[in-house]
Parts: sequence; structure tokens; C-alpha cells
Amino acid sequence: MDFSTATAALDLTQDDYELIRRLVYCQSGINLGDKKTQLVRARLGKIVRTRGFRSFREYYRHVEQDPSGEELCTLLDAISTNTTHLFREMSHFNLLRRLLQTWLADRDWRARHPTIRIWSAACSSGEEPHSIAMVAHDVLRDHPGVDLKILATDLSVRMLSRAMLGIYEPHRIGTVPPELKTRYLRPTVADGEAVLQLIPELRQTITFARFNLMTPAFPFRNRFNVIFCRNVMIYFDRPTQQAVVGKLTERLHEGGYLLIGHSESLNGIDHRLTYVEPTVYQK
Ligand SMILES: C[S@@+](CC[C@H](N)C(=O)[O-])C[C@H]1O[C@@H](n2cnc3c(N)ncnc32)[C@H](O)[C@@H]1O
Repeated sequence: MDFSTATAALDLTQDDYELIRRLVYCQSGINLGDKKTQLVRARLGKIVRTRGFRSFREYYRHVEQDPSGEELCTLLDAISTNTTHLFREMSHFNLLRRLLQTWLADRDWRARHPTIRIWSAACSSGEEPHSIAMVAHDVLRDHPGVDLKILATDLSVRMLSRAMLGIYEPHRIGTVPPELKTRYLRPTVADGEAVLQLIPELRQTITFARFNLMTPAFPFRNRFNVIFCRNVMIYFDRPTQQAVVGKLTERLHEGGYLLIGHSESLNGIDHRLTYVEPTVYQK
């Protein structure tokens, strides 16, 4: 085999990069800028090689011409960064506990909100909605009969399918408060490995769905009491952040909260929210 030809054929040209960068930006809002050639080469190169495409350009054309949109999905899956962990940024979960306790102790508030709705808007492999479910169920033990609905959405179907299982290897649960671990994670076996799984009662509270934050108008019927939109807007440029924050705000109840990632901020964005503390905003 002529390896020099194979390697040369898989070269990511500046034009290829530009085409891919534009496609990713238009479809997901993820702004790769002009310096992420290494990332694109590494993450897409694997697909290009294993699927037998002769070049990045050939792969790009294939994605562009796929009417099902599945190839685009796979490309965006490969490009997006899905890093997450249980109880990431613990202060948000302490805040959620305090909010739920305060709201549920208030009869008027309860009458106005027969269902508590929380949205994890870029949930990746599920650690965020699973952490939300553990805290909320823990609070709800003192308030039987309260209806709780958690919506967990992400662009990546690969991540969503992992999220639905709620399965964790033991080394991934170190950040879970011990009492929640005992109550809500059950030992089981998956693929011959001893693992832990979020109990069915909690998994049933969560609806998982693919949803792109770039969708022009968010189609949800109901409004949310709390929206977690963390560690995703960092990949968007300012106009995209502005548009997303506007649409998230629209989907919040008056008095509801928007939580963003600890390395994110709404500085420089026009919004109708009140700053509460870093990364926490109220409508
Ligand atoms: C770094 S993870 C954040 C996970 C979790 N929110 C956290 O803070 O731990 C970013 C997630 O955003 C998702 N994402 C990227 N662009 C998106 C878009 N346009 N719409 C919805 N989700 C998107 C990715 O698929 C990825 O799972």
C-alpha cells in the first residue's frame, strides 16, 4: 500500500476546514474559529478513515447530500465536546435544593405551580439531569404528591442514548453526596461489569429528547421553573449566545432561574434577567 498517498489524501486543507467550520456553525452554533484544525482532523479523521472516504472533502459532500440528516448528526456528535460529571458545579445543586424547599413551603407558589418543571438544556450523557433528579426527589420526600418533570435535551443522540441508561462505573460517582448515592444509585451488572444505575423511579421523571438550541423558536408548551444551560454557550459566538439566552428567558416562568456554566457569563449580552450571583440569573 502506498502510505504516502493515503496520508496525503487525508490531508485537511484550509478549504475543507472552512467548509466544515461553516457547516458546524450553521447547524449547531458551535464556533470553531480558525484555529481548531487539529481538533477537526483528529475527530473527523477517524470517521473519514473507518468509513473509507478518500478525503475530508468527499466525506463533507456525503454529509451535505445525506437527506436523512443522520450523517450530519454523526459529524456534530464527533465535533461537540461532551465532558460532564455528576454534581458538576455543586453550588448549583445546593441552590436548587434551597429553591425547591422555599417554593414548596409556600402555599401560594404551589397553587400557581402544580407541576415543577426543570430543563437541562445541554445534558450530554445525563450527569446533569441525573443530579437534578437526585436533589429534587430528595426534597420531594418531605412533599409527597408534588408533580415533578425534568426535560433533558442535547444535540447528540449518542450522548442521549447513554443518558437514558443512567449507568455509572464506580469511579464516576465520587462527586455524589453519600446519602444520595445510597438512596438513588443501585448496584447492578452491565456487560459483565459491576456498575451503579439511577433507580427507575428517578429515570422515569426525566424525558430525554434531541433538541438543538439553534432551533429558531423553542416549541415547548410549558414554561420552566429552572433551566440549566451550562457549559454549552461557551462554544457559541456572541450573536448566537444572545439569541439562545433570549429564547431560554422566554421559556422561564416569572421568578424562574437560569443557571449557566462557571466559566460562562452573560456580560455583554442584552437580557431581561436579574443577576443573582455569578452564573445565576432570575426572570
Ligand atoms: C460540555 S457538555 C455540557 C454538559 C452539561 N451541561 C454540563 O455542564 O456538565 C456540552 C453539550 O452541549 C451539547 N451541544 C452543543 N451544541 C448544541 C446545540 N446547538 N444544541 C444542543 N446541545 C448542544 C453537546 O452535544 C454537549 O453534550
